[in-house]
Amino acid sequence: MIKTPYDRVIEKFLDREVQPASRIIDVGCGTGWTALFLARRKPGSQIVGIDIDTLTVHRANALFRRARREKLVQCHRCGVEQLRVRFGTQMFDCAITSHTLHHFERPAAALRQIRAVLKRGGRLLLVELSPRYGEALDDCPRYSLVKIKEFVRRAGFRRVGGAERAPGVVLVRASR
Ligand SMILES: C[S@@+](CC[C@H](N)C(=O)[O-])C[C@H]1O[C@@H](n2cnc3c(N)ncnc32)[C@H](O)[C@@H]1O
Repeated sequence: MIKTPYDRVIEKFLDREVQPASRIIDVGCGTGWTALFLARRKPGSQIVGIDIDTLTVHRANALFRRARREKLVQCHRCGVEQLRVRFGTQMFDCAITSHTLHHFERPAAALRQIRAVLKRGGRLLLVELSPRYGEALDDCPRYSLVKIKEFVRRAGFRRVGGAERAPGVVLVRASR
């Protein structure tokens, strides 16, 4: 896979923020590159991906099998709206959600679902493109760093921090 400057910013962020031997959920994991990156970089971690799209889930699991990481990382079909029912509360040390917030109909409600499956003190790591970059790609609404932090706080997270890094990547971290 050819890495873009966007990918490199995100990988650096995840590498810095995710502890080894963590139980991680990747919400809206898409075809699985973030989850696979973490399976390779964070020894002893167990990673669950979820995505609402069936074909995407199959593609992610095929990627993990090809990389011989299928025992450490699996993807399931599940919407963010069903997280608490599907996984129960306080199951994960870390939740990642990358390029997904603009897809969620109710961003704060989606983040509340993510918070529910995190252990006390568990970490949320969120990645989005800034409105200037994201809105040039598709018709989805994009949110500023300030707005995203507001959603995250409204969902009940604390210690909410973040930054925008060139080229137009918004990185947010928070604790349950
Ligand atoms: C732009 S892709 C991002 C994929 C991946 N996280 C990445 O960084 O490359 C957005 C993903 O969110 C998924 N998605 C959209 N709405 C969702 C929902 N309500 N619950 C779970 N996943 C959803 C889509 O199917 C898609 O795979």
